[in-house]
Amino acid sequence: MAQAQRRNPFLEGNFAPLSMECDAPSLPIIGEMPRELFGSLYRIGPNPAFEPRDPHHHWFFGDGMVHAFHIENGRVAYNNRWVQTPKLQAERGAGRSLYGTFGNPMTTEPDVIGGDSGVANTNIVWHAGRLLALEEGHKPMEVDPRTLSTKGYHDFAGRLEGPMTAHPKICAETGQMIGFAYAPGGLIGDGRVLNYYLIEADGTLARSFQVPVPYFAMVHDFMVTRNHVLFPIMPLTGSLERAMKGGPFFAWEPDLPVKIGIMRRDATGPESVRWFEAEASFVFHPMNAWEEDGRILCDVAQYAAAPLFPFADGRAGDPSKATAHLTRWTFDMKGATSNFAQAQLDDLEGEFPRIDDRHAGLAYRHGFFGFRTAQSTSGSFDGLAHIDHRTGRRTTFQLPPQDAVAEPVFVPRSADAEEGDGWVLSVIYRGEPRTSELAVFEASNLAAGPVARAQLSHRVPFGFHGNWRQG
Ligand SMILES: [Fe+2]
Repeated sequence: MAQAQRRNPFLEGNFAPLSMECDAPSLPIIGEMPRELFGSLYRIGPNPAFEPRDPHHHWFFGDGMVHAFHIENGRVAYNNRWVQTPKLQAERGAGRSLYGTFGNPMTTEPDVIGGDSGVANTNIVWHAGRLLALEEGHKPMEVDPRTLSTKGYHDFAGRLEGPMTAHPKICAETGQMIGFAYAPGGLIGDGRVLNYYLIEADGTLARSFQVPVPYFAMVHDFMVTRNHVLFPIMPLTGSLERAMKGGPFFAWEPDLPVKIGIMRRDATGPESVRWFEAEASFVFHPMNAWEEDGRILCDVAQYAAAPLFPFADGRAGDPSKATAHLTRWTFDMKGATSNFAQAQLDDLEGEFPRIDDRHAGLAYRHGFFGFRTAQSTSGSFDGLAHIDHRTGRRTTFQLPPQDAVAEPVFVPRSADAEEGDGWVLSVIYRGEPRTSELAVFEASNLAAGPVARAQLSHRVPFGFHGNWRQG
């Protein structure tokens, strides 16, 4: 009997890719776009150019597409482009997809096994005069900040020999960009080592060395404070051997502990790494981390179990554990304990935490994140939240159930404005007309709704991250 074709949920609704690239010189605006906003908001996410060949196609493996909103004098121009990765170019040449999810050799076209399967789809950052489209298994791809045309891999004058995280941290005090790679030899390596990278404010890769880790895990993000770097090793494990037997390359193994390695930022080798331990949990994204009285504190969006990934035997994960809550970790650097405290700060199901980046790695007051209510029908987050850690007050803005927000990006009113004085930008999906818009909120009053909305006639598919570049 013929099997009914089952659609992949990550190719439907607003997960479905766009098939076009465009330039819109001036978007219609509802409300008034603040005149002080001068710069570009970049967003990036997966947008598969061809029907995936892998029956286990994963959302994280779509070809990266950049969406840019350029704001000046109250007007907004928009453009979108695929990042022209070697994978996309090879598949365009073939007229079909060639690579299995994460380059899995079991589902990749034999001719290209071991080839470059980079998708440049996870984050887009501006540092040292370059716009870099990032994906954690490969080197950064440089993109033109205005035309979004792809310039090619940026390897820091040959000093970056392998991949780099999609979540480098830019130090608010020094302008240094700090990064790492959890699979420096690619996913076919044994993964029990990561590479640490220190890039100076002028873009020079000044230091890199290897740090041994307890086991091979997907390390999506990390934390940096004024004096320390934190590597969270959490049991979303990677195994080529498992994949070669037909199992998942990445899988949730809750019997393994969480290990957090804390290293001094001025280290020139891994000797100073101190390991802390806890029961299994998972974090994709921290909100911020900082130092206080001999302690290191981290606010993170913490899950009881990694979402979006199966167990090692292929069984689907437990959806009741696949929700994140803002949680504070406290590491006592003066004591001898290897434990650390964990305390939930908020009861919303929240993700994509962001801050006023001028406080990255420093004590901070204001945090912003997306949250999901039980009413949401889009498959994504239907509200934005602002948490004021000083007062404990939380304010929210909630959309109709079929609509969704993207990661909130904070833009200060001016370079010397007080922390949190400015705007929150989020690309909102409207489920009814199936279009998207750039929404601008007063950061101090999310509940009032957007002060300006720049409207597209198409939708921006659900993506991952974005950042602001001041004009
Ligand atoms: Fe991320």
